[in-house]
Amino acid sequence: MGTERKGGEPVKTILLVGATGSLGSQIALALLTKGAKLRLLVRPGSRAKLAADVAAASEIVENEASAFDGVYTVVSAVQGEPETIVDAQLNLLRAARAAGVRRFIPSDYSLNLFGLAEGENVNSDWRREFARRAEKERGAVEVVHVLNGGFLDRGVLFGFLGAFDLEKGEAYLWGDGNERMEVTTYADTAAYTAEAAVADGPLPGEFFVAGESLTFHELVNETAAGLGRPVTVKKLGTLADLDAEIARHLQAEPGNRFSWLPLMYWRGMLNGKGKLGELQNAQYPAIHPTGVREYVKRMVAGNA
Ligand SMILES: NC(=O)c1ccc[n+]([C@@H]2O[C@H](COP(=O)([O-])OP(=O)(O)OC[C@H]3O[C@@H](n4cnc5c(N)ncnc54)[C@H](OP(=O)(O)O)[C@@H]3O)[C@@H](O)[C@H]2O)c1
Repeated sequence: MGTERKGGEPVKTILLVGATGSLGSQIALALLTKGAKLRLLVRPGSRAKLAADVAAASEIVENEASAFDGVYTVVSAVQGEPETIVDAQLNLLRAARAAGVRRFIPSDYSLNLFGLAEGENVNSDWRREFARRAEKERGAVEVVHVLNGGFLDRGVLFGFLGAFDLEKGEAYLWGDGNERMEVTTYADTAAYTAEAAVADGPLPGEFFVAGESLTFHELVNETAAGLGRPVTVKKLGTLADLDAEIARHLQAEPGNRFSWLPLMYWRGMLNGKGKLGELQNAQYPAIHPTGVREYVKRMVAGNA
């Protein structure tokens, strides 16, 4: 199901949902680079947000009715709350199953959400809820969770997370900083996701990939090396202090996700619970993922 021959090579049709988003737009490019036949399921009114080169090279559909016909893999890069992450993705999975789709990649792309306990990170809770229900409903569809750690990006690792203030040259530590954590750029996550989408398979259900795996202290050293100037570590407390800090933010501003969600992610990286399992990187030697030092150098040069 979902393959046709082009010049002797099987061409797989991949249905991507969320192609107008930050990660989805990069997955679209990576799938086109892989030579996949790309179909985009786009919400009515969102079509204009597609990158022109992606739109020109893809089939665009706004209606789920026939979107799944002949599809090999459904890739989701949606973002949202439980109505999207659980309900809408389950609807996509059901449609994929009915159409005989081979594989479904849900919108996870994070630290190892299966290592976290309930309530530790709401975003991870919703994705585990999807995973549990998908396991019951998937039939013969292979569900593959792409897990890549934090995004190695100015807006995420060096922004949203609150782990660094690069202008001040500071990094913020809770606990001892000796656990390993993973970081991966958007582009590398997209490239590995495209590989997972077209793979003849089967694939591991938890598809771990990373740009770099390192401790907090190594992360700080690599960042400083990329910046070409020192980064000072500010110790903010123990991991128990971080739990208390998150609880305080949750109580004070439950509706303001930006006050506590970044700390939840940073906790899952610092305490080792979000650490990935065995990486799949070696299976895809054509991808040379960007590490921290290289990314920071690019950022300093204005190329990231
Ligand atoms: N590891 C990390 O550090 C990290 C950081 C950021 C994000 N992520 C993960 O990466 C994934 C993508 O995030 P993003 O930042 O790229 O998201 P984004 O830029 O906000 O894009 C979200 C996409 O989802 C679509 N969408 C939202 N609700 C939908 C629905 N109900 N039905 C269909 N499409 C829907 C949007 O379409 P419209 O254009 O129609 O609105 C858009 O294409 C998420 O799982 C997110 O948690 C990971």
